[in-house]
Amino acid sequence: FEPKIRTASTGDKTSFAYETARKRWPIIITQAIDDVYRTTGQTDDAEKREEGKRIINDLATLKYEVQHDRALTPIPDDGVSDVATYNQILESLGKPTWLNVSWLFSECYLYRRISTSFALSTHWKNYDIFARQKIKTFRSSRPAVLELAARYKDLITQLRSHTGETSEEADKLLFTEMCEICLWGNATDLSLLTSLSYEDIQKLQGSEARKKSEANILVNDLEEVYKQLVEAKKAGKTARVVDIVLDNAGFELYVDLILAGYLLTAGLATRVTLHAKSIPWFVSDVLPGDFGALLNALAAPVPFFETATEEEELQGKTPEKLSDKEKEELSFLFQEWSVLHAEGKLGLRANRFWTGPGSFWRLVDPNADEQTKELAEDLRKSELVVFKGDLNYRKLVGDAEWDPTTPFTEAIGPLGPGSGINVLALRTCKADVVVGLPKGMDEELRAREGGGGDSGARKWAWNGKYAVVSFSKGA
Ligand code: F6P
Ligand code: MG
Repeated sequence: FEPKIRTASTGDKTSFAYETARKRWPIIITQAIDDVYRTTGQTDDAEKREEGKRIINDLATLKYEVQHDRALTPIPDDGVSDVATYNQILESLGKPTWLNVSWLFSECYLYRRISTSFALSTHWKNYDIFARQKIKTFRSSRPAVLELAARYKDLITQLRSHTGETSEEADKLLFTEMCEICLWGNATDLSLLTSLSYEDIQKLQGSEARKKSEANILVNDLEEVYKQLVEAKKAGKTARVVDIVLDNAGFELYVDLILAGYLLTAGLATRVTLHAKSIPWFVSDVLPGDFGALLNALAAPVPFFETATEEEELQGKTPEKLSDKEKEELSFLFQEWSVLHAEGKLGLRANRFWTGPGSFWRLVDPNADEQTKELAEDLRKSELVVFKGDLNYRKLVGDAEWDPTTPFTEAIGPLGPGSGINVLALRTCKADVVVGLPKGMDEELRAREGGGGDSGARKWAWNGKYAVVSFSKGA
């Protein structure tokens, strides 16, 4: 249940993995250490402080092992069964060292191992080391959050008041725009933030940026997806579920909810299920608690957006006040989403499967555990399963070195036609692998400025500037 061709490795100088393992992982671990150090300093509980020191020590050891290219060691048993799977795969890889190992496996292992340190404690079991960063970045997404809140309110009000015939063309356009908003929300995840400033993020998020980016969607199957949803509606199916396998918290989750709310209001789905991770994952991925945190921020936007951060205080800056109109628009969003949630039309689930090692091909492995089998069954009943983001895409295609013209339906292996699962990937490119491109496009993109030229590296695909929207019908 993995592709038979070679997967990206941290030892490959032309891969984004090379830089990630050497530069970005040490920064991410250092930030994690700083976070635990800070929380340890804020607690009066001596036992919790002691445990905090032990966790800091674990993290420092991990950082040392990464930087000094030591072997990956078996993950200690923390009571969750996926440890066994991780350790089996680790064994099957021989004795790999950090700087020359499958990128996909080692990066998943990194976050899984970090979570064990917390799971084995008493006072830090559910601690999210990335929560501070996630909240801070969501605050700094304020301009785009406000812009979209206004647009959403307008749109939902129009959808509700519209009674006569609508043109199919206009409906399709709206659907496309909503999906593209949701797509570009993925461009600014926190594991890449080690090299992006907050100003950069804001530039990437507004509607202007989106318009300019349309040409950067290299593959776009949204027409087919729209057809799929409309046909199910016309066929009079009463229960039509759309599943969204979430990626990042904060702004990206916000745009995911915008898409979910739109699909429900437009009648393109009768229920939307969001799938979150169960452990802190790739820095910014959504944990169930992030969903509540987002709704709380919308419910009480004044303390959230108007309270100065420590940094702002030091710089003598005070955040601008929200206008009455802005407060009203945020409160509209809160009302809409909490009602959908309360009515059971919008749900959130976590499953350990999403934080397993290796590819998503294992979802349909007949030897998978019961929990995974149930998940696969649920997804088969869905009209559409949307996979958000780069890592989910890498897991769909097994992070293998596919020729970029390989059809998406082939690169997702057993998840392709015949699997019963309708797969849609909304992905901004932040890694090497890419499939489904027309012949010659990869070469053309490499030849552009910063695209990698003849270095052998597919640099154009590393920074979220380009995107692919790929669909595979499961029937
Ligand atoms: O650490 C780098 C990286 O692993 C990417 O290349 C990766 O796939 C990404 O982080 C996470 O991106 P996303 O949040 O879109 O899945
Ligand atoms: Mg992510």
